[in-house]
Amino acid sequence: MTHSGKRSRIAGLGINLPSKILTNAQLEKMVDTSDEWILTRTGIRERRIADDGETASTLAIPAAQEALRRAGVAPEDLDLIVCATSTPDMSFPSTACHIQRGIGAKGCPAFDILAACSGFVYGLSVVDNFIRAGSAKNALLVASEIFSRIVDWEDRNTCVLFGDGAAAVVIKATESSSHVIDSRIRADGSYADLLTGGGGSASIVSAKQFDPKSHFIKMKGNQTFKVAVTNMAEVCSSLLADNGYTANDVALVIPHQANIRIIHAVAKSLNIPEDKMYINVHRYGNTSAATVPIAMYEAQEEGRLKKGDLVLLVAFGGGLTWGSALVRW
Ligand code: COA
Repeated sequence: MTHSGKRSRIAGLGINLPSKILTNAQLEKMVDTSDEWILTRTGIRERRIADDGETASTLAIPAAQEALRRAGVAPEDLDLIVCATSTPDMSFPSTACHIQRGIGAKGCPAFDILAACSGFVYGLSVVDNFIRAGSAKNALLVASEIFSRIVDWEDRNTCVLFGDGAAAVVIKATESSSHVIDSRIRADGSYADLLTGGGGSASIVSAKQFDPKSHFIKMKGNQTFKVAVTNMAEVCSSLLADNGYTANDVALVIPHQANIRIIHAVAKSLNIPEDKMYINVHRYGNTSAATVPIAMYEAQEEGRLKKGDLVLLVAFGGGLTWGSALVRW
């Protein structure tokens, strides 16, 4: 199949956030923490928690349907489905295949991307390359995470940070000036031990050795913080420079929402005013791969994304992975 448009336009967005809210005050009753500590160290006030019956795919499907509706694309017209998640429904079939069935699409390739909190930016880069190659013209990219299932609710170092949520974008091949200009995705596995989630073959051991906490997140928060800031700033700087832009050209940065102090430190390092950094971490905490598209959706709803704006996306996560994308809105 040949396609005339070779650039990727974000044509429709959707989100789905669980209605159940877990506040810092409620966390005070669960672990030895305080609203004041969480707020000053992270900027988080509350996060959403999925119901017991919810999975990554059931959370994703309404977000995908909203994105399709807004883009004016029918499920049967999709020629690619990519889902970024570190909390898949199961090891296989992929969450993307479950979403495909749930939205009534058929036949197109569907696969997951595991890049932890960088998953959406990784997915955008992959989809953009499919579109540039002429291999897709109507793609669905979803990020859906239920971190409440892999958080140790007895570990105050991690349980205050994460939340659940899903978001989706429909990406169409285009020849218009509104498109993904470029992206960079990176990883350094030598930092693998800084941030890990279990649930894979390494934690599936004999019943005798079974460790009920083996599938929980483990994190060296302090070291992760430093590497996050350095790498997020570096990848943004090089992406801008390689495309002939400076930080002054950027209208809005949509960063991964892990910690408000990381966002402020990245802004400082890039010399971008804080009011150009989109922030909603106070409402949802860190929803891993879903933070960037949830933030993008809310920025659009608030009128902060205007046609022609230069928008910089940046994320960082376990792996370690990180990446950035430059979008002309
Ligand atoms: N409530 C109260 N105290 C807490 C706490 C909590 N929820 N979590 C940790 N503490 C304590 C620690 O035990 C430590 O106590 P100690 O000094 O008696 O040992 C103290 O607070 C300071 O811990 P430290 O790790 O130095 O704090 P920090 O300023 O680095 O903030 C993080 C901790 C986790 C908020 C911060 O390191 C961070 O955000 N890191 C990045 C994590 C991240 O974003 N991961 C996802 C990346 S995608």
